[in-house]
Amino acid sequence: MSVFSLLRNLALREKFVAVVSLVIVVSMLIISGYLIKRQNEIYHQELEKRGRALAANLAYNAEYGVILESKEELENLIKGVALSDDIVYVKIVASDGRVLAEIGRNLTEKAALVPNQSDAEQSDSALFSHYLYRSEAGDDFIELRHQVRTMRKEISKENLGAVAVNHTSGSVYEKIGEVRIGLTLANLNREVSKSQTAAILLTLMVVLSAIIIMTAFVRIIVRPIESLAEITDKISKGDLSKTVDITWKDEIGMLAMSFNRMIASLKKSQQEIEDYNRTLEEKIIERTCELEGAQAQLIQSEKMAAIGQLAAGVAHELNNPLGGILGYAQFALEKIENKEIHDLKPKDMESYKRYLRDIETQSRRCKAIVQNLLKFSRTSQTVEFLELDINQVLEETLTFIDHQLMMNQVALRKTIDRNIPKTQGNPGQLQQVFTNIIINAMHASKPGSEIAISTRFLPPLGEFAGAVEVAVADQGTGISEENLKKIFEPFFTTKEVGKGTGLGLSVSYGIIKEHGGEIRVKSRLGQGSIFTIILPLEKKGISVEKQYSA
Ligand SMILES: Nc1ncnc2c1ncn2[C@@H]1O[C@H](COP(=O)(O)OP(=O)(O)OP(=O)(O)O)[C@@H](O)[C@H]1O
Ligand SMILES: [Mg+2]
Repeated sequence: MSVFSLLRNLALREKFVAVVSLVIVVSMLIISGYLIKRQNEIYHQELEKRGRALAANLAYNAEYGVILESKEELENLIKGVALSDDIVYVKIVASDGRVLAEIGRNLTEKAALVPNQSDAEQSDSALFSHYLYRSEAGDDFIELRHQVRTMRKEISKENLGAVAVNHTSGSVYEKIGEVRIGLTLANLNREVSKSQTAAILLTLMVVLSAIIIMTAFVRIIVRPIESLAEITDKISKGDLSKTVDITWKDEIGMLAMSFNRMIASLKKSQQEIEDYNRTLEEKIIERTCELEGAQAQLIQSEKMAAIGQLAAGVAHELNNPLGGILGYAQFALEKIENKEIHDLKPKDMESYKRYLRDIETQSRRCKAIVQNLLKFSRTSQTVEFLELDINQVLEETLTFIDHQLMMNQVALRKTIDRNIPKTQGNPGQLQQVFTNIIINAMHASKPGSEIAISTRFLPPLGEFAGAVEVAVADQGTGISEENLKKIFEPFFTTKEVGKGTGLGLSVSYGIIKEHGGEIRVKSRLGQGSIFTIILPLEKKGISVEKQYSA
């Protein structure tokens, strides 16, 4: 995983602390590295300066001791030098390399020293030279060498190569020996490593305190951001009850303030939407009520129109039995008026009984017609569903229509399935549907043609719980394909003004839908049409307790 992807996964607080810690560590390392290097250089220079001064001093004072090769005097001289921690040894050697006097602890160790780096200027002619060594134990040393010289006036031919000639004064200095001072760098290295440890400790302390301070600071910055995030989450879940606490007047405080403003305006618009929804709902309920009322009115007026159409048939239907009743009543009256009761013979009594029975039968028929008409015309706001026999409802409907069919010279053929189980529905509404479909068929039929009405039971199949089917087939005009799409539309009619309103099928469609059923049409122009009504035996969500009876 790269550093960037690692950073990306960290929380804001951790990111901030990580980056700042890194910056502090790097800058502390650079600063302390530079300071340690400078300290090293200064210490080194100081050490060398001291060594040089000491070597020069000793070389100056050792001149006669070397000339005389007086070990005693030279040792006295170098003993006077207080050996500090840094000075490891001091020795005075003759020009041929013999050690004339020496003091110090690692005289033997010198043999183990190997040259590390030597001054470029060193040569026999140089007054001062220095060597850097590293012992086999890994300790660094500096050896400072200072020539011990004496001044000679005359120059002999043999030692010409070993003298330095002072051209300006004309004096000649001869190298007669050398003072060598060994300085250890162990103290310097120790100091440097101490400084390094101190720098590391200091860096750690700075980083640690920076982390503590930053964590506290970041907490102050991040806490409000976290609370913003928390509240945003709540808002996304639809909870607008919380607001952000504004404790600071800085940029975050400003952000929190505008956030709170946003919550307030969100709340306002939510409230507006709720109010709007509420009024919308109320309006929908109001309109639905109005529509339901209008629909009920429409069904009722359509029904009244159908009754109007039926009036002639009904009048005829009533006229026949009423004529019979009147006739029988008149016969009976005539007979009773001409004869005394005791003159009546058993034969007469039989006739009276027959007249009265006929009167009873015809009266019952009149009563049935009137009752059917009443049932049909009854207004009911709540549609009552009853357990009914569809054949019976169809027969009752036909009592009104028979006469009209006869008048229009249209024959009626019934194929009734007597084994249909009871179904659920509103008899008045179903009568209305059958009346409209049969009258439509009659209007489309030519005199001499036939309308075939059949009922059928469709047994249960799979999920389908079973249904009854009522089919009305005519041999009339048929419906064009174009009109077929429109016949269920309200006010679509092809009939002359005053003959049809164009509401019959649309109302019928609504009624059958309400019964959970459907109306299907098949038609061919010039050949006729078949309207099929399918009613399920049970309509979901409707409980039926009452039975329908004539
Ligand atoms: N059996 C049919 N044969 C031919 N056309 C039909 C038949 N049934 C319906 N139609 C057509 O459908 C149209 C709409 O019928 P619908 O019953 O809705 O209205 P309508 O009979 O014209 O008027 P209303 O029934 O309101 O008095 C009719 O005008 C007619 O053109
Ligand atoms: Mg009609």
